[in-house]
Amino acid sequence: MFTTDRIVQIFLEFFRERGHELIPGESLVPPPGDPVLFTTSGMHPLTPYLMGRPHPSGRRLVGLQRCLRTTDLDEVGDDTHLTVFEMLGSWSLGDYRGPQSLRWGYELLRDGFGLDPSRMHVTVFGGDEQVGPDHDSWQTWTDLGVPIEPTTDDNWWSNGPTGLCGPDSEIFVWSGPETPRGTPTTDDRWVEVWNHVMMRYHRHPDGTLEPLPQPNIDTGMGLERLVSILQGVESIYETDLFEPWRSTLPRLWPGLDDSSRNLVIDHLRSVVVLLGDRITPSPNGRGYVLRRLIRRVLTTLWRNDPTGTLSDLPTDLIEHTLDHFGQLGSPDEIRTALRDEERRFGQLLERGRQLLSRSRFSGTLTDDDYHYLHDTHGLPRDLIHYLTTETQH
Ligand code: SER
Repeated sequence: MFTTDRIVQIFLEFFRERGHELIPGESLVPPPGDPVLFTTSGMHPLTPYLMGRPHPSGRRLVGLQRCLRTTDLDEVGDDTHLTVFEMLGSWSLGDYRGPQSLRWGYELLRDGFGLDPSRMHVTVFGGDEQVGPDHDSWQTWTDLGVPIEPTTDDNWWSNGPTGLCGPDSEIFVWSGPETPRGTPTTDDRWVEVWNHVMMRYHRHPDGTLEPLPQPNIDTGMGLERLVSILQGVESIYETDLFEPWRSTLPRLWPGLDDSSRNLVIDHLRSVVVLLGDRITPSPNGRGYVLRRLIRRVLTTLWRNDPTGTLSDLPTDLIEHTLDHFGQLGSPDEIRTALRDEERRFGQLLERGRQLLSRSRFSGTLTDDDYHYLHDTHGLPRDLIHYLTTETQH
């Protein structure tokens, strides 16, 4: 079986053998000038170099980067979504072009990881009113004999409404036990594993596209998803990567159903990584995302057992996560931050209970009530719902 460490090693070695320099993973905080709150893809720390500044390690780079996405927050708890995840990436800064990247991608998946090519499908950019179809990628995949589906929006990658962007080609792997059928957009058993972006443009605020002086290739492959495919498990939580969390949690907080358990694992692990990157809970920005994650863990735990506490989180689980992400943070500081936030949240809920017990709030709450509770007492709508339904559990 491929362990996670082995998978990372095979990926990095493959590209190093092809002239790529290994770059270290960076923190979840993107470099100044990048419009995003968090690093959501391996390319963020490279933004200045993708814009044209020479990189000290050259034109071919490879690496593993931690990322955080909150767009999938409602899906966390299912088998494939995580808040903090890792992305394997390879880059050509104005060096080789898309067809070379796709050929290497195919070779690595087939020969390095042993994936059966008959379980692969790809998508390519079919063109829109500004940019024509991606003929090069189409031709490359045709030569390799991989089935292709063209799309428009799904095959255009951008880093927000303005900035770096370009057409991409995504590689999907069939995840079901049966013979592959359908296409990536018609059957979700096709799981996207690797995105190759032909990062050729810069979009201006007026919507126009300016070709970059140096066209780049930016590829990204979600590590945990690849690991679950190669380890033959349906859920990322069943991979070796999550073993310490999976085996510890039921002892710590018994009675959680599978999706609540997954959510607690995902969020707590993400919280450790955020705190390890020196982000602290706060009412806005990055700190607010951290605060929401901690609060969501607590409401999930307390629905199951009101006496649950993050003080029970073992130090070795925190250490294991910090080690895995190569972070230097101290487990004790992280435990203290969690305890402080838990206490603060407990006090807020207590205030909320007292407020909601007033006769003014005994009936159905109006929009004015919600505004008042939020603006004057700091109680957001989801917490009010939590408080008004907690007695029913
Ligand atoms: N930037 C691309 C993505 O996020 C490839 O890394 O999919």
